[in-house]
Amino acid sequence: MIKTYKLSKKEVENEIKSAKDLKELDQIFNKYLGKKGEITLILKSLKDIPKENRAKVGKETNFLKNFIEREIKEKKEKMRFVGVSADEAGWIDITIPGKKPTIGHLHPLTQTRRKFEEIFQSMGFSVIEGPEIENEWYNFEALNIPAHHPARSTFCLSLCRTFYLKGGNLLRSHTSSVQIRYMEKHHPPLRIIVPGRVFRNEATDAKHEFNLYQIEGLMVDKSISIANFKSILREFLDRFFQKPVKMRLRPSYFPFTEPSFEVDVECVVCNGKGCPTCLRSGWLEMMGAGMVHPNVFKNVGLDPKDWTGFAFGMGMDRFAMLKYKINDIRFFYSGDLRFLRQF
Ligand code: DAH
Repeated sequence: MIKTYKLSKKEVENEIKSAKDLKELDQIFNKYLGKKGEITLILKSLKDIPKENRAKVGKETNFLKNFIEREIKEKKEKMRFVGVSADEAGWIDITIPGKKPTIGHLHPLTQTRRKFEEIFQSMGFSVIEGPEIENEWYNFEALNIPAHHPARSTFCLSLCRTFYLKGGNLLRSHTSSVQIRYMEKHHPPLRIIVPGRVFRNEATDAKHEFNLYQIEGLMVDKSISIANFKSILREFLDRFFQKPVKMRLRPSYFPFTEPSFEVDVECVVCNGKGCPTCLRSGWLEMMGAGMVHPNVFKNVGLDPKDWTGFAFGMGMDRFAMLKYKINDIRFFYSGDLRFLRQF
């Protein structure tokens, strides 16, 4: 047992052990190690101790000092959680609301596609997909686009600029190819929409990308007319833009429809008054459409005398741009979170 004058390690140890709270521990600390504490005083008076004892007393006192400090610290640690407030103990407050994880959301183009699907499905259309790598038959020939048609050329100024792959296949330039694929396997009556990615050899700018998303539509039955097309389209447009929008059909030409037309929608940005988006015309060109060409029916083994139908194709990017007021198509594919987080 170490004895430094009147101090014994055992006594101090017992004292610390029987301390009931932080206050009592502080008192013990002060009693020995405070400014006028017993150990402090012994250490201060070491010089007065006879030389032969000095080293021994110094060593023992320092040992006791370290012992007391350590014991008190340990006991305080143990006491922290008993009878002290959460703040004092540094305890976890389980009532603090948790940190919210950042939750992502769907890309504006995906949101747009889902809206298209929801509206058309409610009108009895099925959602169909087709391959992005096509061959000439599905992308062109079966759609009554013969080899000499300008849309087949890679260099033409027509809207279809096709990427050819080695071996004769190509990246589909429109979703119309799926009309053929679907009618080959399914007998009318039928109603489908085909959302999907298409590819075009374009120089990119605010309005053009070399890849974009289209929605194709096809309805075939015994006596389908343009009136059916107009009413389906009206329902779709009103629901998509959530307001009544005017539309008009303009005669046009597509090899796979006869008659063909272009569908214009009253500019949803300026409500037809004329603005930069609609090039001051008050109208926006939104899609190509028409009555399915008899040759297309023949190419899938259907008799054009028995069946009639309409088809249409529109750019999803364009609809999303108008709905969300986006002025550059390239934002969709930039992956820039500052853009994406806005939707
Ligand atoms: N496939 C045409 C394009 O990419 C759009 C189109 C026009 C689709 C008329 C149709 C249609 O179904 O009837 O420009």
